[in-house]
Amino acid sequence: MNGECVLEMKNVVKQYGDNLVLDGVSFKLFRGETKIIIGASGSGKSTILKLIMGLDRPDEGEILVEGQEIARLRESDLVAVRSKIGMVFQESALFDSLTVRENVAYQLYEDGIDDDKIEPKVRETLGFVGLEDAIDKMPSELSGGMKRRVALARALIGRPDIMLYDEPTAGLDPITSRKINELIIALRDIQGVTGVFVTHRLRDAFTLATEYATNGGSATTFHREGPLLCIANTRFLLLRDGKIIFEGPDELLRRSDDPYIKRFLA
Ligand SMILES: Nc1ncnc2c1ncn2[C@@H]1O[C@H](COP(=O)(O)OP(=O)(O)O)[C@@H](O)[C@H]1O
Ligand SMILES: [Mg+2]
Repeated sequence: MNGECVLEMKNVVKQYGDNLVLDGVSFKLFRGETKIIIGASGSGKSTILKLIMGLDRPDEGEILVEGQEIARLRESDLVAVRSKIGMVFQESALFDSLTVRENVAYQLYEDGIDDDKIEPKVRETLGFVGLEDAIDKMPSELSGGMKRRVALARALIGRPDIMLYDEPTAGLDPITSRKINELIIALRDIQGVTGVFVTHRLRDAFTLATEYATNGGSATTFHREGPLLCIANTRFLLLRDGKIIFEGPDELLRRSDDPYIKRFLA
């Protein structure tokens, strides 16, 4: 794939005590692309996202966000890097004492944006996730799926260059999960958002890899890839024992002869 590389990991090693979690992980993410990171529980998926956000640091290797090396950047310089990235955490992680409006607006307040500019942005972003009516609610009044959508809106509000999704459907029922996956597909296909999607649910992973969205007027519709259209901007990374053991499109993953991969997909 050509185009601009927005994120790169080069030989990243991360160890917690004597637990070697990442043992030389390298990959590149290009603008407009979505990487789906799969792997068993504890294989280091969330660790990769934490390192990209600069919430933790690698022991070895380099991490480049839009060409800037962040692994050894000072905390004060990481703030600017983080503002380029939106992250949806595994457990929505909303501020319980703040309203939906305040949760979603949080980054804009931090960036010192004028109040009168904040409200329309909050409404627009909540509109995208279908929750404009919930703007005055408290997180405790929301269902799990609504909380996840607020978390998505909060991550999107600053129009980040890269979105990181850490198991965004964890704990949600199939219908609600479907809704979240559709929002992520729409972001990728209609808004051209670059993303890293982490999941241990293969069903979600294959939904993202095989369905695409089109926008006709105001309605977004979803289609399954077929002989005429094959999604080229979404690739899998499979983590095992600290290493990426597969990188490529879903078709190749499904056809793999590797016994571990076959078992993993079964
Ligand atoms: N802050 C930490 N301190 C110690 N061990 C950690 C820390 N974060 C993650 N780990 C360990 O690293 C491994 C990978 O964790 P994680 O990246 O969360 O896996 P995954 O998201 O794939 O389930 C696990 O064994 C986990 O216990
Ligand atoms: Mg995780």
